[in-house]
Amino acid sequence: MRQFLYNSFILELLLLTSLFASSGLAMSKTRDKKKNIKETKEVNICDILGQQAPIYCYCNDGLHNSSVVSCLVLSKFERSDPMWNYFKSQTQLEKLTFTVRQLDSLDYVPDHLLQNLKNLRIIVFQHGKFHKLASYTFSNLNSIVEINLSGNMIVELSNYTFETMQNLTFINLDYNRIFEIIRYG
Ligand SMILES: *[C@@H]1O[C@H](CO)[C@@H](O)[C@H](O)[C@H]1NC(C)=O
Ligand SMILES: *[C@@H]1O[C@H](CO)[C@@H](O)[C@H](O)[C@H]1NC(C)=O
Ligand SMILES: *[C@@H]1O[C@H](CO)[C@@H](O)[C@H](O)[C@H]1NC(C)=O
Ligand SMILES: *[C@@H]1O[C@H](CO)[C@@H](O)[C@H](O)[C@H]1NC(C)=O
Repeated sequence: MRQFLYNSFILELLLLTSLFASSGLAMSKTRDKKKNIKETKEVNICDILGQQAPIYCYCNDGLHNSSVVSCLVLSKFERSDPMWNYFKSQTQLEKLTFTVRQLDSLDYVPDHLLQNLKNLRIIVFQHGKFHKLASYTFSNLNSIVEINLSGNMIVELSNYTFETMQNLTFINLDYNRIFEIIRYG
């Protein structure tokens, strides 16, 4: 009898430990899963799911290696927004279009993004509110062939805005209100 009690005690102990062990395992698995979702879903501009996100992008080739990406700017998209980093997974990007859907949502050219897209050939902005294109905004972007800035409320062009762009052949500045062009020299 005593032996039996002892055995069942051991059994219970074993059960308890295994219960704890498996629940611990389950917890760490959920944690891993959460981490993975965060990593894969949030760093890719072609995979934005949040309702609150300031932009939404359409990509021509699924999640990776899209060459043509068109983004809608839906609400105020700050220069410091971490979502600008979500373009990093699209290294093959050749044509990028930003269409601003809500007035005032984009009032600067994201030059920090453009510097990182080494294969970008065509960049298009629609309905931005840029007012002034600062010096060096597009400078040294040697892969860019075409810039379409038609209709972005541009009033002033600074010197060196398009400085050193080896492959640039086409700039569209239609439908702006440029009254000042600050020239080099
Ligand atoms: C993306 O392109 C790179 C280089 O061309 C290639 O090594 C990689 O396998 C591609 N990734 C996907 C998911 O297609
Ligand atoms: C400029 O265009 C040429 C011809 O299309 C291309 O071979 C070259 O890689 C381009 N330069 C850059 C920096 O992308
Ligand atoms: C530039 O953008 C304007 C307005 O979005 C469009 O009408 C025009 O066709 C575009 N031009 C090029 C060369 O992409
Ligand atoms: C642009 O040109 C003006 C007038 O020549 C000059 O004073 C200014 O320093 C220039 N800006 C830059 C960024 O070089």
